[in-house]
Amino acid sequence: MDANYYENEQNVANYIKFTPAHDGALLVDVLGEHLEQESSMLELGMGPGKDYKLLSERFRVTGSDFSRVFLERYRKHDSSADLLHLDARTLETDRTFDAIFSNKALIHMSRVELQKSFARQHALLNDQGLILHSFWYGAGESDFNDLTLVYHNENDLAEMLERSFDIVALERHAKMSEGDSVYVLARKK
Ligand SMILES: C[S@@+](CC[C@H](N)C(=O)[O-])C[C@H]1O[C@@H](n2cnc3c(N)ncnc32)[C@H](O)[C@@H]1O
Repeated sequence: MDANYYENEQNVANYIKFTPAHDGALLVDVLGEHLEQESSMLELGMGPGKDYKLLSERFRVTGSDFSRVFLERYRKHDSSADLLHLDARTLETDRTFDAIFSNKALIHMSRVELQKSFARQHALLNDQGLILHSFWYGAGESDFNDLTLVYHNENDLAEMLERSFDIVALERHAKMSEGDSVYVLARKK
């Protein structure tokens, strides 16, 4: 299963070494324009935790990941962090949040898994809650380092979300190069 890729110490070390430019500040700023300070929020697939740190400056953040390796690494560095071991495909928690955020963490899911994840996120959100997720831009899938990457564009994201969310923003942005990514900001109906 793809998600197990990051259960491996070496793969995690390689990811941390490789992580290129960081687009998290832009995404956190976009969210900040629509979400009150000190709102509660859940980050999915936090990885090394760069965005978790930025989000924590403004919001009450709970970090999460499917990989215990990433969670344990982060725990060593911040013993007071609020962290959950969560699979974004199923989101088995009874906690609720004002917002849910991810940066390139839902990119390994099939369309069916992503649609189910959005339904679970809807259930975990408080009234009028927000989601903000960033994906690689495009269509179809590719294999990269034993991982499947699933690409998304404005149309397929809108199609998956529009029944239960109002789309607030759906924009291309850059992680490594101009327009290589797309983020969606949407509000629970
Ligand atoms: C490409 S990394 C991105 C990490 C981080 N968000 C960043 O911007 O650097 C993908 C992250 O998603 C996590 N992940 C992959 N599949 C997941 C799943 N089903 N549920 C939760 N986390 C998952 C991985 O463990 C990893 O931390």
